[in-house]
Amino acid sequence: MYKIAVLGTGYVGLTAGVGLASFGSKVLCLDIDKEKIEKLKKGISPIYEADMEELLNKNIDEKRIEFSTDISEGVKWADIIFLAVGTPPKEDGSADLSYIEEAAKEIGKNLNGYKVVVTKSTVPVGTNKKLKKIIMDNDPDNHEFDIVSNPEFLREGSAIHDFFHPDRVVIGTESGRPIEAIKKIYRPLYLNETPFVFTDLETAETIKYASNCFLAMKITFINELARFCDASGANVQTIAKALGMDGRISPKFLHPGPGYGGSCFPKDTKALAYTARKFDTPLKLIETTVKSNEEQKHYAAKKILKMLGNAKNKRVGLLGLSFKPETDDMRDSSAIVIIEDLLRAGVEEIKAFDPQAMENAKKIFKDKITYCTDEYEVAKDVDILALVTEWNQFRNLDLQKIKSLMKGNAFCDLRNIYKPDEVKEAGFIYEGVGIR
Ligand SMILES: NC(=O)c1ccc[n+]([C@@H]2O[C@H](COP(=O)([O-])OP(=O)(O)OC[C@H]3O[C@@H](n4cnc5c(N)ncnc54)[C@H](O)[C@@H]3O)[C@@H](O)[C@H]2O)c1
Repeated sequence: MYKIAVLGTGYVGLTAGVGLASFGSKVLCLDIDKEKIEKLKKGISPIYEADMEELLNKNIDEKRIEFSTDISEGVKWADIIFLAVGTPPKEDGSADLSYIEEAAKEIGKNLNGYKVVVTKSTVPVGTNKKLKKIIMDNDPDNHEFDIVSNPEFLREGSAIHDFFHPDRVVIGTESGRPIEAIKKIYRPLYLNETPFVFTDLETAETIKYASNCFLAMKITFINELARFCDASGANVQTIAKALGMDGRISPKFLHPGPGYGGSCFPKDTKALAYTARKFDTPLKLIETTVKSNEEQKHYAAKKILKMLGNAKNKRVGLLGLSFKPETDDMRDSSAIVIIEDLLRAGVEEIKAFDPQAMENAKKIFKDKITYCTDEYEVAKDVDILALVTEWNQFRNLDLQKIKSLMKGNAFCDLRNIYKPDEVKEAGFIYEGVGIR
């Protein structure tokens, strides 16, 4: 049985830790955030993810997972060290590698025998080789180790499911030596015939960015088309449906909305565009995707303001604040830009509710908006109701009740989850994104 230390116990590190423990390894999740580690020791997940807490407690009870802030002891104890710390965006769009470089230093200082270092964090091409050098420079005794790039493709909101059912596992190495250990820790997936892609470090690093950028570009394509439909009168829903019927295109990621957000697409598109410029091979499609997605967030706010007519003395109700359903993550959520634009335009009040993201929202907006306890409290006395995140509980609203609670009758469906006629029949003025 391998002893695995995971450095960085966020969305990715915690999911990997819990997943690898479920596969039978002994796991020690490490983090510099004491509060997070204290919660985890008590079996409380610091993030909202389906099935996370249950699986976490099962592995704690069965003594396969532990939590600590003692990075040096953790590194010494482990055979395999996963790097899952954040790589957030810097002002210029490049990935901030300071956390991962710091973690690599700690690994170097504490090497005490052969170990495999596996990078799960999303890092630009060439980073794993840099990390290898940092580890070597910090290890005066020149212990042997191998570095592996194993990018993560999980989706927040279904992280646990995705860990156990990945479309593929990408493994980048410099030599064959660490592959045996990787195959063993992922044995259940290997036996399950999950496709494994074995390649070099640079290719593995780039596969991750290529995947996210392609998906971001696909969303942006349909969002631009939705704007065109708003202007021309065509129906983007029908267009997306027909497009998706083409097997070469597929229906996934063809849902118009207020722009993509979250901790990955925005930063990974910017980081790949930045890296490509450094290599003097600008990726123009990606650069345009970044710009167009920003525009889409403002476009969503403009749509709400246009429906309101005049912002003065108007109250806006927002349903959903997280960047997508089934997560409490608000990083780069479109709701942030929408709220800022609405406040700048001078609306009287913004009332909002999200099933999971209220705590995070309070940290961002403080007393600038009114926090409600459910969708019907949001509707009370507002001039317009805008659906920002498509949580399941917003899919079947009692429209008559909403209408009777509201002051106005405008319904802005930024996720196109309602049939326009159904909403209009309930007495609303309806606008979706690319449909009316
Ligand atoms: N969140 C996702 O959906 C997702 C999906 C795929 C890949 N990724 C990538 O995975 C990486 C991690 O993302 P995340 O969303 O889990 O981040 P996160 O912010 O949720 O977690 C990162 C954790 O690392 C900890 N940390 C920072 N420096 C540390 C150090 N020196 N030692 C130990 N811990 C340290 C932080 O305290 C934090 O708890 C990023 O590169 C991200 O791009 C994220």
